[in-house]
Amino acid sequence: MNRPSFLSDHCPPMGIYETLYAFRDSFGQFMGSPGTHPWSQGFPLTTPLPGGPELPSSVAVSPDDRLYPKAWGHPALRAAIAEHYNSFYGSRIAPENVMVFAGGRPGIYTVLAFLKKHVEVRIGNVEWPAYLDILTQTGASWRVVPFTKENGFHPANSAYFDRTGLNAKTHLLPVISNPGNPTGHTRHGAELAELMAMAEQPGNGILLDEAYEMFHASQGVSGIRYVKDLDNSNVFLAGACTKGLRSPGIRIGWVIASRKNIETMSNYSSFGMGGVSHLSQHYAVELLEPRRVAQARAAVAQHYGVQRARYGAAFQRLGLTVHTGDGGFYHWLELPAGLQADELNRRLFKHGAAILKGFDCDMARPHDKDPGYRSPYESYFRFSFGPLPPESFESDIAILGKVLTEYRADVAKSAPR
Ligand SMILES: Cc1ncc(COP(=O)(O)O)c(C=O)c1O
Repeated sequence: MNRPSFLSDHCPPMGIYETLYAFRDSFGQFMGSPGTHPWSQGFPLTTPLPGGPELPSSVAVSPDDRLYPKAWGHPALRAAIAEHYNSFYGSRIAPENVMVFAGGRPGIYTVLAFLKKHVEVRIGNVEWPAYLDILTQTGASWRVVPFTKENGFHPANSAYFDRTGLNAKTHLLPVISNPGNPTGHTRHGAELAELMAMAEQPGNGILLDEAYEMFHASQGVSGIRYVKDLDNSNVFLAGACTKGLRSPGIRIGWVIASRKNIETMSNYSSFGMGGVSHLSQHYAVELLEPRRVAQARAAVAQHYGVQRARYGAAFQRLGLTVHTGDGGFYHWLELPAGLQADELNRRLFKHGAAILKGFDCDMARPHDKDPGYRSPYESYFRFSFGPLPPESFESDIAILGKVLTEYRADVAKSAPR
């Protein structure tokens, strides 16, 4: 007999993993191994991009690097991150506004874990699956902002700060991926300026997740451009080397916030995290070298811009409805009437391919499995072109086309005559 575990019984892996395990059981190999088509995966190409920078292949390690790291991050990396924002966006943040984490997720997790009880999170109905797990596990309270065909999966900024039914005690913290995962919708220019102005109002804040900062024709979208008084705010910007700098494996991310909020998070690091590997932080300093970043911005915007456009056009030709915005490296797609993403996946698995189901991005679904719950996004899915080399385009579209044709033929066969 198994003894009951001392650990939570409510800690499933992020939604996408269920798809990955189902894929392995069906196809006999892990998604990502040679011969598979990783359309469900959110990693970028880590091989060279045309016009992109050469990425460092080693870092020097001195005895100092074997000492404990500083809780808030290596001084050289904090300075490089501050400069990274100030030079491109015209901001004036200091290294003391930067806290280094082992990737984007731990930073986001930490902000949400230390929220005061009167702070209510607002999250779009369609967002990155990990947010639902993080909000649940940190015990945050949240309300969902509608994402519908009618609002183009892009609600107005004001929807995140709607105070209907609230008293003055409740403060609001929208959590927004921008550019969005999975929708690609991006708030930039005047719309982003308005969002940040709202976030700086008393009683408001924001956790703006800018993991896909470089994946936009402008080569860079960040709320920091519009922040007036960071040290007097509850603005949190999350960034990472994961996507634009194309180094998910080094596990370096950061949060930009007021000095006071950074101090709280670094106090947590002193007892709960112990800082982040010096080796990875040195690597990140090299990645953030201004010449490299300038090349990366141009190459990422160019390559992924072309991929977004050509996959989008091909999906339309296949009869899918494209609801994608103008940033990121995902398409947000609606299937023809009658076909659900679950069934699409079962059919794709046979060809070594898989997508992320819209259901997994539904922030209003119950965290624990509930067979009775029907998501409004069951006929939607996310297609990732992040890891795809330009050469796979033809075969990707051929596989998807074949599966949709097979489905239509099966429907026609089973229809009453
Ligand atoms: C919206 C979003 N935020 C943050 C991250 C960064 O994740 P990490 O750096 O922890 O891999 C990701 C990666 O998938 C993401 O999609």
